[in-house]
Amino acid sequence: MSAATACSPDASAPPAGAAGTGGGAGTGGSIAGGSAAVGGSVAGLGGGGTAAGGGSAGAATGGGGASAGGAPSACHEAGPSGPLTTRLPCLLSETGLYGADMTTLAGGVHPYSPSFELWSDGADKKRWVSLPAGSKIDTTDIDYWSFPAGTKLWKEFTRDGVRVETRLMQKQSSGAWYAVAYQWRADQREADAVPNGVKDASGTPHDVPNGDDCLTCHSQMPDKALGFSAIQLSHAKQDPSSALEWTLETLVKDGLLTTPPALPFTVPGTALDRDFFGYLHSNCGHCHNPKGTANTQTGLDLWLKVADLAGPVTGFSVYQGIFDRDIVWLDAEHPNAPKRIAPGSLADSAMYQRFVEKAHTWSMPPLGTEVVDPAAKKLFEDWITAPR
Ligand code: HEC
Ligand code: HEC
Repeated sequence: MSAATACSPDASAPPAGAAGTGGGAGTGGSIAGGSAAVGGSVAGLGGGGTAAGGGSAGAATGGGGASAGGAPSACHEAGPSGPLTTRLPCLLSETGLYGADMTTLAGGVHPYSPSFELWSDGADKKRWVSLPAGSKIDTTDIDYWSFPAGTKLWKEFTRDGVRVETRLMQKQSSGAWYAVAYQWRADQREADAVPNGVKDASGTPHDVPNGDDCLTCHSQMPDKALGFSAIQLSHAKQDPSSALEWTLETLVKDGLLTTPPALPFTVPGTALDRDFFGYLHSNCGHCHNPKGTANTQTGLDLWLKVADLAGPVTGFSVYQGIFDRDIVWLDAEHPNAPKRIAPGSLADSAMYQRFVEKAHTWSMPPLGTEVVDPAAKKLFEDWITAPR
């Protein structure tokens, strides 16, 4: 497991200006609340070269917990809106994800997979979680889980066969989350924190987001994890032979939820309904949910709730808010489509127009993707034009 590191003089203290765990606005570099500004800089830190120059290369590759000490390394640099990563380790090897070979999982780390994935321009992704020993996830509100301090979640991106980056979110005792991405070095034996992000990283078209972009998506929920939830984990193991993989069922069985739900949750309706609402849930709902700021701006809610799943699709709060419903913002600045979903008409469906047009300020989602998801484009078309 990880211990103090070169970048973490005080891993438990909140960052200057941290706003605590409230769902609303906040300041500072953590995901305690929302950080408003989005700095334009995607300068990156020069990858392995900078890290080596900073003196951290090799110093802590021994498999977690080693401290480079002394010379400050690259991740002391502030992200666009603050010292986002100064309290997270500089090196992925210090985070407790992998053993010394940087491939085998460390003890206490569990793979999981969401039923519905966020599209990241075709990158392959893997995800892991670790909870502090003896702790439980507070599932009193089954739609918005609250994680114990010390929870760590990782997500790793492989693009065009290259393991490019691994992201970490860690909940602090203050309730705030810290988040950063680590870019893999060419030798694949270490990855360095890159709080400013990296455009077209490691010779691929994949962009590593900067800290402000992490916040834009991850600050819109009461607690900040987006894909580790009842609906997302209600499925059979992806790898039935894995003793480690966590699903909703294993979490309930192992007593890791304070309020274990009755199992399982399935999205009702046809396969098309399930795919469509699942896609909206994971690709739009993290901003467009009743607790997010995008929702307070337009009232558009694309986040499935557990209670909705008990009834027919037409009763979903999401369905009722989009089907044949007028959009809120229709003006010269926006696509000339009067409905959120206009049954039978792609041209009149603002959700479709914003989704398939990539080059505008109003394109949706507004970040995290440069390429329209081809399967989802067809999914939108099939659902909107389905005979009813
Ligand atoms: C475009 C919005 C967006 C951006 C930008 C973004 N994330 Fe996420 N992230 C998500 C969504 C949605 C999920 C859950 C779905 C999934 O895993 O496919 C997620 C999942 C994760 C997870 C797994 C735990 C969880 O929340 O489900 C981690 C860790 C993570 N992100 C870290 C980061 C970090 C660090 C950054 C910035 C370097 C970042 N993310 C930027 C939307 C985003
Ligand atoms: C990173 C946060 C974020 C994500 C992810 C996101 N949106 Fe948005 N969306 C916004 C914000 C902020 C607004 C309000 C500003 C505007 O209209 O551009 C908005 C507005 C909209 C509107 C206008 C609603 C109205 O009634 O005026 C539509 C339609 C929309 N989004 C569709 C989508 C769809 C479909 C997805 C997923 C494919 C999505 N959005 C993902 C942030 C987001």
